[in-house]
This record gives sequence, structure tokens and C-alpha cells, in this order.
Amino acid sequence: MKTYKIALIKGDGIGPEIIDEATKVLDSVASCFDFDFKYEEVLMGGCAYDETGDPLPQETITAALSSDAVLFGAIGGEKWDSLPREKRPESGLLRFRKELGVYANLRPAVVYDELINASSLKPDVIAGVDLMVVRELIGGIYFGEPKGRDENKGWNTMVYTKDEIVRIAHTAFNIAMERSKRVCSVDKANVLDVSQLWRETVEEVAKEYPDVELSHMYVDNAAMQLIRDPKQFDVMLTGNIFGDILSDEASMLSGSIGLLPSASVGSKIGVYEPIHGSAPDIAGQGIANPIATISSASMMLRYALGEVEAANRIDAAIKKALKEGYRTQDLAQHDAKEVCSTSEMGSIIANYTAK
Ligand code: IPM
Ligand code: MG
Repeated sequence: MKTYKIALIKGDGIGPEIIDEATKVLDSVASCFDFDFKYEEVLMGGCAYDETGDPLPQETITAALSSDAVLFGAIGGEKWDSLPREKRPESGLLRFRKELGVYANLRPAVVYDELINASSLKPDVIAGVDLMVVRELIGGIYFGEPKGRDENKGWNTMVYTKDEIVRIAHTAFNIAMERSKRVCSVDKANVLDVSQLWRETVEEVAKEYPDVELSHMYVDNAAMQLIRDPKQFDVMLTGNIFGDILSDEASMLSGSIGLLPSASVGSKIGVYEPIHGSAPDIAGQGIANPIATISSASMMLRYALGEVEAANRIDAAIKKALKEGYRTQDLAQHDAKEVCSTSEMGSIIANYTAK
């Protein structure tokens, strides 16, 4: 029997609740196959700062690098908002991504037929949406130098090197080859020099993928087009901050930000995490939607561990739970059905996964 070593980072806010449901489902699916999981729980974010004075202890990096994959919940909260920048939970997460070299953040946005009425958009606009945001994750304005602030001024720099753009462009084109073979690269090339280089470089890389149709869109237009006609998109290739914003926007196509998973990959260990944050306002109430995290666990099985059949089983179980009418509170608003708690939803999916 094979044992996969998973570094678990629960984090802050709803992080622990949603990770517990994901491991429940993982253990359930493992019982049907010839593998199991060994979890090593490590700290990152506000909880790590509270315990060790550092939002990213070295031990967490070491544990992650010696695992087969990282499953991560969420970090952050008002409690730590007034700390100096490098002590903040978010800085821990950014350093973590950098240390692991996970330069490509894959954020699929799929509309489940079962939830067609849960979205705030009209059913005919969103039916059949299936797109993938490929977001560059360890460059751009999040990391560029110089940055800083004094009393009257704050500054950050959006920088991309050609190599960084080439690398993420290849990721996007390779993913498009497995999908509908369309890449829309998002930039602000009418204003930003960094975007001009981005556009020219993506054009160059595109020559190696003659079967993929490449288009370019300014980010403001892309934000509008995502709501107007999301079905026009297959793969959206973006820099760090544009992808952060557009992937939150894309999540609302599906009905709730509590549904969308993500995979952050590079040349070492991958990190699998929901795209949503730690939602401190609803933490501890048992009302968070665990589906984004369970779905991230499925991506982990598929991409990091090569357990495709097990991943398919989880995806089918999520669909079945939704089809049967189970809804966490976030989804019940537009779609009056019986509301279940975080752990009820996890148990229902775990049960369907085992069958
Ligand atoms: C995300 C989050 C993070 C980001 C924050 C928490 C630093 O919004 O993963 O999308 O901006 O990348
Ligand atoms: Mg974000």
C-alpha cells in the first residue's frame, strides 16, 4: 500500500474547519483505493505568528518540501492587520509561495448545472461556463522592488522579466492544448511598459503552439467581458494581481466563492488551496462552504499524486451532493434548498465518495 505524505496547513479563520472536511473526504476515498495519507500539520499565517512570532516558520517550509503535496486552507484576519508588513499572515503566504517556487496558479471556474440558479447572473449567460485562469504567482507587483512607504507616500513596482513571462505562458499554452485550445492573455499594454513586454513575449511563445488561438485583452475589458459573456473564455493568462482580481470575479459565475479550488505548481512541491480567504466573520460557526477545499484536494490527487480515478470520484460526489439539493448557506441565498453545515456537507460528500 502506498502512503502519501501531505503537509497540512489549516491557517486562520475558517481554514481549520474546511481542511477537516477535505481530509475527511480524502480518507474516505483512500479507503476505496490502495493508498492512504499521512498528514503533517504545520503552521502558517496569523496562528503561526501567535505561536512563534513568525507567520512562516522554517519548519513549515521544511515539512512542505519533504511532502508529496501541500493542502492549505486560508490565512489572515483583522486581528493581525496592524502588524508590520513582514509579520502579517499574507507575507507568510507570499514567502511560502516564493520558497516553493510555485509560479503557476491554476484557478478553474466551472459552473455546475446543479447550481445554475445559485449565481447572481442569468442562467443563459453562465450555463456551460468552463474556464481556467492561469495566474502568475511569484512575480509582478506583489514582489517587485522598489517598494516601501513613508508617512506621505507608498510605492510598489510591477516588474516582470522575460523569463518569468515565458515560463507562465508555456503553462497556459500547455493547459490550453488539453482544453479548447484558446488562450486570452490579459494585460494593460496600453498603459504599462511591463504589460507591453508581457504581450510581446506571449506572442513569441505562441509561435510554438500553432494549434492554439491567442487573443489579448486589456484587464479592464476582461473584467467586463467575464460578466457579459464568460463563455468566450477558455484559458485566461494573467499576471499576479490581475489574476487575483479576475479569479475572484470568475468565482461569482459559479454562484459562490466557496466553490472554487486552485493548484499552485512549479518545479517542486505543489500547493492546493481554495481561492477564497479565511472569512473571519463566519469562522467557528459551521457555515463555511467546504467544497472549494474538497475540490482542491481532488486537484491534488489528480495533479500531484496522479490518482486520477480517486479525483474523479470526489468530483462526482460533489456533483451528487449538489444534485441532491444539499447547500451550505452561501449557496442557499439564490437557490432555496435545505441548508446544511460545513461538517454535514463534508460528511455527505465523504459518503458519496466511498460508494
Ligand atoms: C489569493 C489571496 C492572496 C493573494 C492573499 C491572501 C495574499 O487573495 O490567494 O488569491 O492575493 O494572492
Ligand atoms: Mg485573492
